[in-house]
Amino acid sequence: MKVDFCHKTVLAPIAGYSDVGFRKVCAMRGADMTYTEMISAKGLVYGSDKTEDLLHTTFSEKIKCVQIFGSEPDFIRRAVEHKALEKFDVIDINMGCPVPKIVRNGEGSALLENIPLACEVVKAALSGKRPVTVKFRIGVTSDKIIAVDFAKAMQDAGASAITVHGRTRAQLYSGKADWETIAKVKNAVDIPVYVNGDITDKASYDEAMRISGADGAMIARGALGNPLIFSEIKNCVPDGYSLKADILTHFDTLLEYHHPAYVLANFKKHIAYYCRGMQGQKQIKLAGFEAKSIDEMRDVIEKYFV
Ligand SMILES: Cc1cc2nc3c(=O)[nH]c(=O)nc-3n(C[C@H](O)[C@H](O)[C@H](O)COP(=O)(O)O)c2cc1C
Repeated sequence: MKVDFCHKTVLAPIAGYSDVGFRKVCAMRGADMTYTEMISAKGLVYGSDKTEDLLHTTFSEKIKCVQIFGSEPDFIRRAVEHKALEKFDVIDINMGCPVPKIVRNGEGSALLENIPLACEVVKAALSGKRPVTVKFRIGVTSDKIIAVDFAKAMQDAGASAITVHGRTRAQLYSGKADWETIAKVKNAVDIPVYVNGDITDKASYDEAMRISGADGAMIARGALGNPLIFSEIKNCVPDGYSLKADILTHFDTLLEYHHPAYVLANFKKHIAYYCRGMQGQKQIKLAGFEAKSIDEMRDVIEKYFV
């Protein structure tokens, strides 16, 4: 499939959240591209069941993207050629993860400090014969913003598009995302650029797109519990929209692919987001947390959501 990256809204890779059910619901609500959470290239090559379990997809997803992490070109090459990735249209490389365990291994945002190796990783990923995208942060610390040089290097190495999270590694997830720096990146490269960070509604989407001049936007936390954000951005909220229907689709899709115990544990986290801002959210969160079976969790969804 040819991917032209002219798409405006993207669901981000979110470890522990961008599961097959959530990706399906976000796609149904308008997300043009949907990313799996980050998958270890080594885990895939060594045949970990846990890794493959993160790779389910549905026909609802329009452009299916898998994100992998790793820093050894040989493992990246073997991972992208793995049959479990055949169904994905796009391969993304994580070069932004700030988690110490990942960084210590030279993976994720550690690659920001080793541009030659980051380029080798992208070149290795091209052997998957699909477009390769890269997601990275604007730098490691605020006194060394390298986004423009890094973006150019990724383009030269063969990336088809890039997503820039407007924070440094040192910032983790706090502080304001710097969309101005993303504008500099956009002006410096010819490949499509996605702006990421702090997009929580249509107003912030419009502002991020205006300031950065990006080709599209990737949304993470703003979509959690709120898949409708994609419809809002596109001004296509359906009449009589039912959050409950989306939650049930999410829940039932997970049940199609996963063990009930996994679904129950995973859904406790999602319910905490789905009830955010609702009256009685504490009670709903607690009810979800205390659910001991799939039936009890379904009762919570039926009782509290409309
Ligand atoms: C719980 C959580 C898990 C995340 N997992 C990933 C991941 O697997 N891969 C990745 O590239 N970014 C990951 N991120 C970062 C997001 O994709 C995104 O870059 C960041 O949250 C900023 O976007 P936002 O302001 O829309 O949330 C994660 C973020 C959070 C909060």
